[in-house]
Amino acid sequence: MKTLAIIGAQWGDEGKGKITDCLAQEADIIVRFQGGNNAGHTIQIGDDIFKLHLLPSGILRQGKTAVIGNGVVIDPEGLMDEIRLVKESGRNLDGLRISDRAHIVLNYHRKLDGAEERYRGDKSVGTTKRGIGPCYQDKIARYGFRVCDLLEEDTLREKVPPILAMKKDHLGLVGESCQCTDEMLIDRLLGWGEALREYICDVSVLINDEIAAGKKVLFEGAQGVMLDIDHGTYPFVTSSNTVGGAICTGAGIGPKLIDEIIGCLKAYTTRVGEGPMPTELHGELGNYIMKKGGEFGTTTGRGRRCGWLDLVVAKHAVRIGGINSWAITKLDVLNGMETIRVCTHYELNGERIDYFPASLKKLEQVEPVYVDLPGWETWDGRSEELAAQGYDALPRELRDYVKFIEKETGLPADIISIGKRRTETIDRRKKWWA
Ligand code: GDP
Ligand code: IMO
Ligand code: MG
Repeated sequence: MKTLAIIGAQWGDEGKGKITDCLAQEADIIVRFQGGNNAGHTIQIGDDIFKLHLLPSGILRQGKTAVIGNGVVIDPEGLMDEIRLVKESGRNLDGLRISDRAHIVLNYHRKLDGAEERYRGDKSVGTTKRGIGPCYQDKIARYGFRVCDLLEEDTLREKVPPILAMKKDHLGLVGESCQCTDEMLIDRLLGWGEALREYICDVSVLINDEIAAGKKVLFEGAQGVMLDIDHGTYPFVTSSNTVGGAICTGAGIGPKLIDEIIGCLKAYTTRVGEGPMPTELHGELGNYIMKKGGEFGTTTGRGRRCGWLDLVVAKHAVRIGGINSWAITKLDVLNGMETIRVCTHYELNGERIDYFPASLKKLEQVEPVYVDLPGWETWDGRSEELAAQGYDALPRELRDYVKFIEKETGLPADIISIGKRRTETIDRRKKWWA
C-alpha cells in the first residue's frame, strides 16, 4: 500500500498538473480533494495541450480511476464541458468517480463572487470569479447543494424553495438579481444528476477499499500553500485548505494513510491575483520571466506576477503542507540568466525573519534578503534530449541551484522539470511506489 500526494508550494500554477500526469503513469487512482474550476492544470502530451479545471489530471491516462473528492466544489456545466473535451480527444471516462458529498457551484455563487469583489473595491482579491468563495460559504453555513441531492427529486423539492428565496434576497442586497424559479432550478439540478449519475459514488469507501487492496493512490492538490484559507496570505487566498491535511477531509481518509507529500515548487515565484508577494519583480526582468515562462493564467488568461524564488515561502510550505520532497519545475525558464537570486530570509525593522508573517502590514514592510547564484547557459530546444541523458547532463550551475534549495529546505529535489512535456522531466528517484 502506498499513497502519494502533490501539492503546490507557492501561489498556485507551479506545474502540479504536469507532475501529476507524470506520476499518474504508475498510479491506480488519482484524486482531487479541494478547490474547484478556479484551478487550471495544464498537461502537454506531445503537441496536444489539455487544460483541466475539475477533472483530475490522471484522467488522461486510460485505465485509471480518477476521483473528484467531497472537498471539491463542482460547477456541473464546467465539468460536463471538460468531460466532452476529453471524450473528443478519443479517451473514455470509464474511470471517473464523483463524490456524492461534493458541493455544487451555482449561477448565484458566480454572481455573488463578482458582487463581493466589487464591494472590496481597491482591496479586491482578484478571484477567478468562478463562484468558489460563495459556494464554500454556503457549505459552511449549511445551505449548499450536494451531489447526492441531484439524484433525489423529493430532497430538491424540500431544499430549493427556502434556499433560493434566501439567495434571491441576498442577491438583491448586493445589487444583483436572479430570474430563476424553484421549478427551473429543480429541473436544472435533476438534469445534472442524470448526466453525471453513472459517475457518482461514496468516494471515501472507494479510496479506503483500494488502499486496503494495495492499490497506488495519488492525490492532486489545487492552488498552493500560500493560497490556503488558514495559512496563506489571508484575505488574498482561495476559500479552501490547500495543504496536505486537506486530503483527509477532502477525500475521506485518515491522516495515517498519507505516506508522502511532494511539494511542487516553481524555480521562481509567480502569483495571479492580488496580495503580498515579497520577491515580486516589477520592472523589465519580471516581464521577461512572464513572457519566457508563458506566465498567463490557465483559467483566466491574466498575466502572472513574477519574481525570484522565495525560500521563506518554501519553508513555510514544508512546515504547513507536510511536504517530504520537491518537484522543481520550469528550471528551463531561467536558462541564459547571468545571475539568479534566491531569497533566504526577510528583514523587518532591521531584524531577521525566517518565517512568513501573518500580518499584511508586516508583509508590506519586509525586505527580502537574497543570495546570488551564477546562472547557466541556455540549452534552448534540447530539453527532451537532456532529460533523456539524466540529471548529470544538466549544467553544473543548475545542479548547484537545486543543491542550494535542497540544503536550505532540508528536502531532496526528486523530480526536475525542464519543459512542458512528459518527456522533459527527470525523475531522480524512480521508485515512488516501492
Ligand atoms: P498547475 O496549476 O500547478 O497545474 O500549473 P499550470 O498548468 O497552471 O501552469 C504551469 C504552466 O507551466 C503550464 O503552462 C505548463 O505547461 C507549464 N510547465 C510545467 N512545467 C514546466 C517546465 O518545467 N518548463 C516549462 N517551460 N513549462 C512548464
Ligand atoms: P491552480 O490549481 C493560481 C487565486 C486567484 C485569486 C485567489 C482567490 O491552477 O494552481 P478564487 O477564485 O479561488 O476565490 O480566487 O486565488 N487562485 C489561483 N491562482 N492558481 C490557481 O489554481 C488558483 N486558484 C485560485 O487568482 O488570487
Ligand atoms: Mg494552474
